[in-house]
Amino acid sequence: MTTRSAVITGLGKALPRRKVSNDDLSQWVDTSDEWIRSHTGIENRYLVSGDESCSSLAIEASRAALKNAGIDPEDIGMVVAATSTPDYKSFPSTASLIQEGLGIPAAGAFDLAAACSGFAYGLETARSFINAGSCDHVLVVGAEVLSSIVNWKDRNTCVLFGDGAGAAVVSVSSASVSSTEEERGLQFSRMRSEGSGWDALIVKAGGSRFPLTSESIEKVENPGDLYLAMDGRRVYEFAVRVICETITELMDTAGISKDELDWIVPHQANYRIIQAASKRLGIPLNRFFMNVQHYGNTSAATIPMALHDMSEQNLLKKDQKIITVGFGGGLSYGGNYIVW
Ligand code: UT7
Repeated sequence: MTTRSAVITGLGKALPRRKVSNDDLSQWVDTSDEWIRSHTGIENRYLVSGDESCSSLAIEASRAALKNAGIDPEDIGMVVAATSTPDYKSFPSTASLIQEGLGIPAAGAFDLAAACSGFAYGLETARSFINAGSCDHVLVVGAEVLSSIVNWKDRNTCVLFGDGAGAAVVSVSSASVSSTEEERGLQFSRMRSEGSGWDALIVKAGGSRFPLTSESIEKVENPGDLYLAMDGRRVYEFAVRVICETITELMDTAGISKDELDWIVPHQANYRIIQAASKRLGIPLNRFFMNVQHYGNTSAATIPMALHDMSEQNLLKKDQKIITVGFGGGLSYGGNYIVW
């Protein structure tokens, strides 16, 4: 049987030049290295400066992923950019800027808005394009400049986030698969949303509901409404619950036990969230890949950056069973089941 399965063939990452440690941050925010480490596991993050932008990071990560995949940029049929912090609020899409930066005029391009779950949604989107025969190679990018929307006066949130980009080339694999041999690549996904939690993670002003004009900005009663606001405890409880549900559901569909799962690649928001999920699921913590200590929470970029770092560290091996799981604003969540 010949199938059009979708396989990740290349990974790339890009970080801003400026590295900011917890100690650096405590120079301008009332916080401490001790608090940030003990409550989140984060030690450093990278923040844009100068001419760095969401699209410039995305293009750099994409070039690295294309090189890693060993394909020509012109082979890309579709660019999917998962981001909540595009260069421009409405249009052009950041995906169009990536397309222009890579010089691939024949490709389609669009942004995907699913907050921190964006990359998991993006992989499933790529798989669908490939399965349907619309494209042979899809570029999925998670890129964020969260420093542009965090409230630097709110220590509850600003210490958590960072900027960065990760990219994956998803390609068709027309390998012949015998009935006894397991198919490799992206197998299936679970995409979910809990819209009842829409206000738990929100930037209130600046959209069409509260447009920002020179007049309206004067009338904003709470300056925090201009920035990212989060009910941390609510998001924490949601995160632990949906990580467990998503992993359990994906394992059940795959027909595998906890012991057969090689890696879980979770959205990197907070070390304690992952610890709690590991305990609740009864899956050892060392099977959850974590790099939140180095970059903070880069929203849609965390999962591709994690996959990239795993690849660099030679942790990804053929036939491994891997689950990705994302969660965040929306409240969206979801995950992918991959046989590497
Ligand atoms: O991509 C998804 C995005 N979001 C998340 O994943 C976040 C989910 N939530 C969390 O990770 C946690 O709820 C936080 C890390 C945000 C907060 O941790 P917590 O253990 O729930 O802390 P808390 O909100 O209960 O705050 C405890 C104390 C408070 O002091 P008081 O009122 O008890 O005196 C805060 O004012 O810690 C204080 N605090 C800080 N202190 C020093 C809050 N932020 C800071 C800070 N530095 N940066």
